[in-house]
Amino acid sequence: MKRVLLVIGGGIAAYKCLDLIRRLAEKGYAVRCVMTKAAQEFITPLAVGAISNERVATELFDLEGEREIGHIRLAREADIVVVAPATADLLARMAQGHANDLATAVLLATRSIVLAAPAMNPAMWNHPATQRNVRQLETDGVRFIGPNAGEMAEKGETGVGRMAEVSELVERIESLLAEEAAGADNGFGFLTISGTRGRVSSSSAPALAGRHVLVTSGPTHEPIDPVRYIANRSSGKQGHAIAAAARRLGARVTLITGPVQIADPEGVEVRHVETAREMLAAVEEALPADIAVFAAAVADWRVATPGRGKIKKQANAEPPQLELVENPDILRTIAKRGVRRPTLVVGFAAETSTVVENAQAKRKAKAVDWIVANDVSEETGVFGGERNKVHLVTAEGTETWPEMSKAEVAETLLQRAAGFLAQARESV
Ligand SMILES: Cc1cc2nc3c(=O)[nH]c(=O)nc-3n(C[C@H](O)[C@H](O)[C@H](O)COP(=O)(O)O)c2cc1C
Repeated sequence: MKRVLLVIGGGIAAYKCLDLIRRLAEKGYAVRCVMTKAAQEFITPLAVGAISNERVATELFDLEGEREIGHIRLAREADIVVVAPATADLLARMAQGHANDLATAVLLATRSIVLAAPAMNPAMWNHPATQRNVRQLETDGVRFIGPNAGEMAEKGETGVGRMAEVSELVERIESLLAEEAAGADNGFGFLTISGTRGRVSSSSAPALAGRHVLVTSGPTHEPIDPVRYIANRSSGKQGHAIAAAARRLGARVTLITGPVQIADPEGVEVRHVETAREMLAAVEEALPADIAVFAAAVADWRVATPGRGKIKKQANAEPPQLELVENPDILRTIAKRGVRRPTLVVGFAAETSTVVENAQAKRKAKAVDWIVANDVSEETGVFGGERNKVHLVTAEGTETWPEMSKAEVAETLLQRAAGFLAQARESV
């Protein structure tokens, strides 16, 4: 049974921890909780203890607690330590290496993965001091999730500062533990291990600050007549996850999506389109961009002359013959642009056979910087599913990434993209 140590900080979002504990317990995790003094102003140790079914640790200098399970054991017995909500003050204390209360002492003593879910007013989050602390913690190997954009507890305030949703937290905890179980240093080379076991260096907040990221997602619908269309099975989950990850990394994000059944990501400018031609026009309009990720499954063909009215079924008549014509190739058009070409153009290749070879050929033919290739044959469950297994094809070669959630693929890809931009800037 995997053990989660939840460090609850003193913010309004502390109430979400009750749901988080319940969801983790339902999934079979043993959850122990540490509460800061301030956290106890928002929710009670009684409620946390009742839901986690464990004694809640609140004091560093607690003779009984120390005898039962001392702060070092608390820190060491956890497979993952989750800090939620990670207040501005707690982040500052962690960045400084304080150990003057139970929460910080445990965080300093642990050798496990630490995942922080910041939640605070946008002004606090954007303050250079908080951003400095976050960068320091990232360097120290702390993983971050969120904060998300949206409405704040303070009436009428919006911005980046909301704690990640409980479902996002659960998903990230599961994927970090899976990554850890698979051995973080697994030879794939794209995760940076920073010393201590389990501490995987990654960043979330500021890596793409000031950048514009353009993402396409979902299928396109190509009309046959006003009521019928040609479509494909793309759910938009991977493209939307990429837009959300870019936002979390601080970018301004434009998401251009075909018709999908999932919600718009928060804090992202979304343009809804139907056809390939509409998608291309929206992409052109959204330029310039630093990074463009083309994750949409754009229909290769459209019906040459869609019916103006519904095509009627005639008794004893032959079925109508649909003449197809080629749609514009959005990826190639943007990658081959002379002016206003995004610095990094990333295409997706959905293949059902010879995945890597086809992706390598596609990268060259379309003058694309990177191709993310995935096998979408029916047995993989990629279309519409929550997980993905991809290959990253670049000019330097091909990397095969381990199977991850679509959110993890998105975050890993965007981290890489941020690194690419940083290098491009250095070499100018
Ligand atoms: C009503 C109220 C809400 C607060 N919400 C937050 C918050 O969401 N995020 C935050 O960083 N601090 C918030 N604070 C400030 C923290 O509670 C304060 O900085 C405290 O020292 C944090 O302690 P801790 O980090 O040990 O939990 C809030 C304070 C009050 C009075």
